[in-house]
Amino acid sequence: MTIPKLATENPPKGEAKATEKIISLLKKTLEKDYPPPKRTLRDAHPKQVGLVKAEFTVLDDFPKQFKVGVFKEAKTFKAWIRFSKLSNGPDISKDSRGMAIKLMGVPGEKILESQKTATTQDFVFMSTQFFVTKDVEGFAGLLNAVSKGKFRAGLYFLTHPKLAKLFLKIRIQVANILGVEWGSTTPYLLGENAVKYAVTPDRFTSDTIPKGTPADNYLTQRMASQLAENDFMMNFYIQPQVDAEKMPIEDPRVVWSRELSPLIRVATIKVLKQTFDSEAQQMYGDQLSFTPWHSLPEHRPLGGINRGRKAIYETMSAFRHKRNNEVSEEPTDWKDFD
Ligand code: HEM
Repeated sequence: MTIPKLATENPPKGEAKATEKIISLLKKTLEKDYPPPKRTLRDAHPKQVGLVKAEFTVLDDFPKQFKVGVFKEAKTFKAWIRFSKLSNGPDISKDSRGMAIKLMGVPGEKILESQKTATTQDFVFMSTQFFVTKDVEGFAGLLNAVSKGKFRAGLYFLTHPKLAKLFLKIRIQVANILGVEWGSTTPYLLGENAVKYAVTPDRFTSDTIPKGTPADNYLTQRMASQLAENDFMMNFYIQPQVDAEKMPIEDPRVVWSRELSPLIRVATIKVLKQTFDSEAQQMYGDQLSFTPWHSLPEHRPLGGINRGRKAIYETMSAFRHKRNNEVSEEPTDWKDFD
């Protein structure tokens, strides 16, 4: 397989303004949703299914050109993984889900000015292989309509049918959070290539969607009983960009064809047998911050949605921590909680 050089990024006009608009709308939402003395949660993915310990093992048997950054050599990193739900509300509700992986003990200068010496590398996933808008301007339009109430939001969806369709498609019910197939949806640099990431469970979980009215947090309960007994294995893949048009950098609504570019397994993830659902550990996970920009330059996020996320995640994490009088610190190791 010959892989062309990385397709260049093409920032559209108005991107910076739309990013600012998103930040201002998100701040207003948090102020409205969490008046003091309520603790301020994340704007997106506030509901934590669990923060778990995992080992991230880089494999040896994949093409040399991808042995870059954390994939440079076969080795095992300690990791925290935060599983989440896009909005608050019972686990049974149709919604997008999230998985954020934080590797620790990663040497090398990081991209963010404020985190240059941090020893973490994050990978952020959602429960589909596509995102809902092409760019931050599209996302700002959606947020703006939603912030104006149900009528304006409904009208926005009616006049943006493609967005409405994708928005319905990302909302899924989940039997077991460990059984989800995860996608980065946005691309990342890897050496001289652009890649997307995917993570799949190593085996299918046997759970089915619960009937009736299950516990609000049945996904936490199911993961807790499963991890009390056994480790759980997942596979981490890269998907190199091999066609600049069919696999665009600037439109994460487009799923990259696995026929054109099959997934390449580069690492395994072992979610350890453990207890994770103490109040103290749930709180610790809530106080962590994940962003695709907690990254080595070798894994630089690409494309407009990712460019926007640079300022959005840093600003919004600082905003919620300040409101809670808490500090956000990058971890250097696992921690034990009672
Ligand atoms: C313009 C588009 C996007 C906006 C405005 C946005 C906004 C946000 C914000 C504000 C947070 C909370 C940050 C914090 O307080 O620490 C967040 C978290 C998150 N986002 Fe996004 N996001 C966008 C795109 C995406 C995409 C493409 C994905 C899929 C890979 C994604 C997955 C997640 C996940 C999983 C979390 C939770 C991370 C954690 O556990 O801390 N987001 N997002």
